[in-house]
Amino acid sequence: MDISGARAVVAGATGVLGGGIARALHSGGARVALAGRDERKLAALADELGGAPISVFDALDLKRCAAAVDEAADALGGLDVVVVAIGVAAFGPADAADDAVTEHLLAVNTKAPMALARAGVARMTDGGAVAVLSAILADYPTAGMAAYSASKAGLSAWLTAVRPELRRRGVTVFDVRPPHIETGLAGRAIAGQAPPMKAAATVEQLVSLVVDGIRTGRRELRYDLQKGEFAGR
Ligand SMILES: NC(=O)c1ccc[n+]([C@@H]2O[C@H](COP(=O)([O-])OP(=O)(O)OC[C@H]3O[C@@H](n4cnc5c(N)ncnc54)[C@H](OP(=O)(O)O)[C@@H]3O)[C@@H](O)[C@H]2O)c1
Repeated sequence: MDISGARAVVAGATGVLGGGIARALHSGGARVALAGRDERKLAALADELGGAPISVFDALDLKRCAAAVDEAADALGGLDVVVVAIGVAAFGPADAADDAVTEHLLAVNTKAPMALARAGVARMTDGGAVAVLSAILADYPTAGMAAYSASKAGLSAWLTAVRPELRRRGVTVFDVRPPHIETGLAGRAIAGQAPPMKAAATVEQLVSLVVDGIRTGRRELRYDLQKGEFAGR
């Protein structure tokens, strides 16, 4: 896909990776709409990008997720690219887990990305791209992060199943499963404390892999822990 002139919405644009992807798409000539929870942060980024349209949603409200994407599509006159970069982390042993935390993880990491992607695809031109950030945990479910792993594996499974459904429309479904990257996400966990983790990539590397992947029609980006390198097709 030619990024230049593409109409793109980034859900989670207030985050470190989402903000980086929004800036990179903008630099590549895309017309970018910003969606997220924090209106003040969205407005600041919109100014930086020369007056990008913004829409506000909380991932815990699935109807609002869809409405926010609709607003972005209305503002841009349709969509060619949907990026979903929302997420939360939680840590600790499963036997100490709280149902409310599990519910929150599944809502923000699984159900809301599905709702945002579905709403985007409904407004998308044939030949568009949906890029969703799941996580390395989908490939390597990890002790001390059981519900967090399950929430990301669920999202990744959904993306795998939807991909062939959208093939006839030429819509690419890109499952981005990053390794640990220093964005502060772990420190903002909704429960527990993150174990020490070593970053396997920088924000800049990941952002550029995502934008290149959208451009080239990539379907997945994963990180091979044995080889210590990115892989995918
Ligand atoms: N960093 C990593 O190591 C890593 C590794 C694998 C996967 N990922 C995934 O990459 C994506 C981006 O993460 P990041 O590292 O850039 O972290 P981040 O800076 O904390 O970004 C997280 C984003 O999710 C949004 N969000 C959280 N709860 C929300 C809610 N209830 N409603 C609406 N938005 C909500 C945040 O909005 P606010 O700005 O309003 O808080 C923020 O925009 C996430 O899906 C994450 O799971 C990250």
